[in-house]
Amino acid sequence: MRDHFEIRDHDAAGRIGRLEVPRAGVTVETPALLPVVNPNVLTIEPRRLAEEFGAEMLITNSYIIRSTDRIRGRVLDQGLHEFLGFDGAIMTDSGSFQLAEYGDIDVTTEEIIEFQRQIGSDVATPVDVPTPPDVDRDRAERELETTRTALADAEAADTGDMLLNAPVQGSTFPDLREEAGRHASATDLDVFPVGAMVPLLNSYRYAEVVEAVRAAKRGLDPDAPVHLFGAGHPMMLALAVAAGCDLFDSAAYALMARDGRYLTVSGTEHLEEMEYFPCSCPVCAEHTPAELRQMDGGGTADRSAEELLAEHNLHVTFEELRRVKAAIRSGDLLQLVDRRARGHPAMLDGLRTLLDHADEIERTDPVSKDAFFYTSHESARRPEVRRHHDRLSRLAVPDRLLLTESDAPSDHEYDAVWRVKPPFGPFPRALSETYPLTAEVPERLDGAAQVAAAEGVASLADANPDSDLTLGHDDWAARALDAVPDRVETENLRHLGR
Ligand code: GUN
Ligand code: ZN
Repeated sequence: MRDHFEIRDHDAAGRIGRLEVPRAGVTVETPALLPVVNPNVLTIEPRRLAEEFGAEMLITNSYIIRSTDRIRGRVLDQGLHEFLGFDGAIMTDSGSFQLAEYGDIDVTTEEIIEFQRQIGSDVATPVDVPTPPDVDRDRAERELETTRTALADAEAADTGDMLLNAPVQGSTFPDLREEAGRHASATDLDVFPVGAMVPLLNSYRYAEVVEAVRAAKRGLDPDAPVHLFGAGHPMMLALAVAAGCDLFDSAAYALMARDGRYLTVSGTEHLEEMEYFPCSCPVCAEHTPAELRQMDGGGTADRSAEELLAEHNLHVTFEELRRVKAAIRSGDLLQLVDRRARGHPAMLDGLRTLLDHADEIERTDPVSKDAFFYTSHESARRPEVRRHHDRLSRLAVPDRLLLTESDAPSDHEYDAVWRVKPPFGPFPRALSETYPLTAEVPERLDGAAQVAAAEGVASLADANPDSDLTLGHDDWAARALDAVPDRVETENLRHLGR
């Protein structure tokens, strides 16, 4: 891996970074969304993508350009930037997607990389094999071997200052993804797309998307820029960024518009069924759904309903991306993911899968940020809770210790009295004002927060087998009390009238 990526800020496994793209002479802020531009159908002029939507980078397909007689010569003459009218960074794909769709393409990695160089691409792609989900292991391994050869051919190519993608495949086998990530990372290629995600994304299999991303990331260098190939629905951006993705590409904005579909941060709606637009982008502010429906086939306005719908779709997508970046800056990305997870059950599966990897995410999660908000029982599984439990096992504990959710009793026989705050569990009062113990939690806590607090008590008890521990709890659920070790004496504060 060469050094073109700098990470500026972290939250969970998400980051704000800067990808230097030397051939374009620009540096792109990540997370970045690359609108997919079909070289034959410019739904929205690339110049407008930059000026009105803020796109710093886009992606187009060199294989389509190479196979289309009508444009190939012109793109070779003018160069891609002039042809498209875009002076930001341009990534090009190789035809792998067509390979996956049609089973065969008539170009090698060596040829298509040379073609990408000739048309002036800034980030080129070899012919990797996008192995679909759920195939048998033999096929996944065999195709991974072909992808490895493609990466080696890309490494051997004479590419000057053009960056190169090193796609990470492996179908739905996490160990193969991880191995592929490790192999890709060891090449001197530059950007690391997690591939063949489109079938999973199209069927909202977000739990498996997160598994694939996490597996690839375990193999990749932590500083590697990671692209989630084919992902650009605004609903899942926060989740994918929190899992560690830096680049996205959206064909969804244009493809969905073609079918009359309207994207939102909680899913996809049909223009046909809409009475109101919930959005305030220029398109939604100036039109009603009924007006857009009436435009169909009219062709009198300067833009068709499909183009306007595509513009709305892109506006909400970039808006969400800015919201994700702001969340990283203020340290509440996981709260944003939690909100998005309420929009669709498949997103909730994605969040729960991400939290299965809280130990990995904890490693890049800042130790201090804005207040932790407990907004759902998934909050009990956040990396901050786990980190607190790890820290508990390192704190010095006196012989006789009271852990209590209420204030310290005025007279008592303990050596010390610590606070207990679900979902974290016990801590010395001196830590009360430190992150994450300053958390805002609801008055009416759920069992998951109590169970997590009980696990904190267990962690403390395990690390201090010789201390006498007493727990004063506010009417905890039976399953939380079950998680408290037997040797810890418990008192229900409700029954004591405190
Ligand atoms: N576009 C969407 N998925 C893929 C992939 O796996 N590989 C390539 N090269 N392009 C893609
Ligand atoms: Zn809108």
